[in-house]
Amino acid sequence: MLIDGHGRVVNYLRVSVTQRCNFRCRYCMPSTPFNWTPKENLLSFEELFLFIKVCIDEGVNKIRITGGEPLLRKDLPKFISMIHEYKPDIDLAITTNGYMLKSYAKALKNAGLKRINMSLDTLKNDKARFMAQKSVLNEVLTGFEEALEVGLKVKLNTVALKGFNDDEILNLLEFAKFRGCQIRFIEYMENQHAKDELKGLKSDEILNIIAQKYNFTKAEKLPSAPASLYKLDDGYTFGIIDPHKHDFCKSCNRIRLSAEGFLIPCLYFEDAMSIKKAVQSGDILGASEILRQVLKNKPEKNKWEADATNVTSARAFYQTGG
Ligand code: 5AD
Ligand code: SF4
Repeated sequence: MLIDGHGRVVNYLRVSVTQRCNFRCRYCMPSTPFNWTPKENLLSFEELFLFIKVCIDEGVNKIRITGGEPLLRKDLPKFISMIHEYKPDIDLAITTNGYMLKSYAKALKNAGLKRINMSLDTLKNDKARFMAQKSVLNEVLTGFEEALEVGLKVKLNTVALKGFNDDEILNLLEFAKFRGCQIRFIEYMENQHAKDELKGLKSDEILNIIAQKYNFTKAEKLPSAPASLYKLDDGYTFGIIDPHKHDFCKSCNRIRLSAEGFLIPCLYFEDAMSIKKAVQSGDILGASEILRQVLKNKPEKNKWEADATNVTSARAFYQTGG
């Protein structure tokens, strides 16, 4: 079992397989042209897999593949099946913007993937084009349908932004509810890479909008999941991810691996260590020692807390995979 310096059990690894993305979401990577990490700096699937095996052997039972957009990494289904075959009962998921799901959903499902989280910030074409800086909504919705069609479980992620989608919170909730998917509204996390003018809705503001039409009660939160859950009278459950709340980090169970091999103890935190040398020389013991050191370094809290003002993280979401 892996335990961090604050006594939290860490059983969840998020692996970013690429920084690249085919969108330019304003809250994530609005600027082009862009200095990508050159492809040769990326760890190969074999190298990533070596570290993943170390983590699984030490007690990790949940893995999420992220990006950038993970489907841009060539042969992603092959990577999924490597992990799935090593430990078929692992909770294995990906986070995607959905744009390429039409082509990949079936292969992902066949590779052993059970679930995906997909971003959906708006149901309006012009707004989707504004946020992603590309016309994306048709492909995203087609990809969503295909994922459901092949039997993947889908959760929707919506970053709630003032003046952008506050008028669509109810529509998005109803869209997800109608399709039998959970939706989670994410508080915008301020970061240096995002557009300055963005203002997020706080969880109370999101709940107030939903309360205009629905009764709901707080539902039991899964111990290690970041979302606070709420249940409508008819039993439908939606979530809010509120990293600004003071106890958000208490149940943190995760670490992140970047595509270049940095093991990152906290989404906010700058203190990462590279596993690159260890995995490139097949040094399992060395990789496992770095894992332990990073767990020791894991901070108690992020810095987006409610009482901190003007806090802006330097780490980019496209590097850490959200
Ligand atoms: N704040 C909150 N969520 C973000 N994401 C990306 N950038 C931000 C941000 N600044 C989320 C997206 C997507 C996931 C990859 O990360 O909604 O679901
Ligand atoms: Fe790409 Fe996701 Fe970032 Fe949008 S939020 S630019 S889809 S990585």
